[in-house]
Amino acid sequence: MVFWKRLFNAPETMTTAESPSLQGEILETSKEALRESRIFFSLDRELDLYALEELCDAVGWARRPLRKVKKAIECSFLVVSLWEVRGNRKRMIGFARATSDHAFNATIWDVVIHPSFQSKGLGKALIKYTIKKLRNEDISNITLFADPQVIDFYRRLGFVLDPEGIKGMFWYPS
Ligand SMILES: CC(C)(COP(=O)(O)OP(=O)(O)OC[C@H]1O[C@@H](n2cnc3c(N)ncnc32)[C@H](O)[C@@H]1OP(=O)(O)O)[C@@H](O)C(=O)NCCC(=O)NCCS
Repeated sequence: MVFWKRLFNAPETMTTAESPSLQGEILETSKEALRESRIFFSLDRELDLYALEELCDAVGWARRPLRKVKKAIECSFLVVSLWEVRGNRKRMIGFARATSDHAFNATIWDVVIHPSFQSKGLGKALIKYTIKKLRNEDISNITLFADPQVIDFYRRLGFVLDPEGIKGMFWYPS
């Protein structure tokens, strides 16, 4: 079931969308119901934080202070958002970001696809796009923290759980 075409096997196409803030790779849909809409990746970190909050609300994530979210985005190495453009309306439908030491390592955070757009291959496209952008920067060690229910989602994308027995360890304030 391939709804989204021209993702990563075709040469990279940079397309300017209707909105100047939406410059990125366009995903073409073959799904009838979405034919009138266009889906874009954006690397713009000047995001509407309320749109991001709405997206995170939609998947039931606990709210975080917007001031801290803003700082986290500003300080991220890579910020990827996914937008649906329908007529002159645009809507954030996906998001991921990565922090990095700019040399060896990057960690992917806050991966989300709006429930109305899940199970259409967009989460996979988002992660593949993020990996491609990190590889372009010669980052070779890409990690993330997977919620238990999405381990298989990441496995399918090539992520390995606890490689060579390595365990993630966390420190929390008591
Ligand atoms: C996890 C999430 C990003 C997946 O996005 P999505 O657009 O629904 O996923 P896709 O349609 O691209 O699925 C890609 C593949 O992974 C599989 N998959 C999707 N979600 C899965 C899950 N939870 N567990 C196992 N496999 C899953 C799909 O069946 C598909 O398999 P295929 O390539 O063999 O067809 C999305 O469900 C989401 O935003 N969830 C809520 C937020 C969340 O949990 N984020 C992760 C925090 S670590």
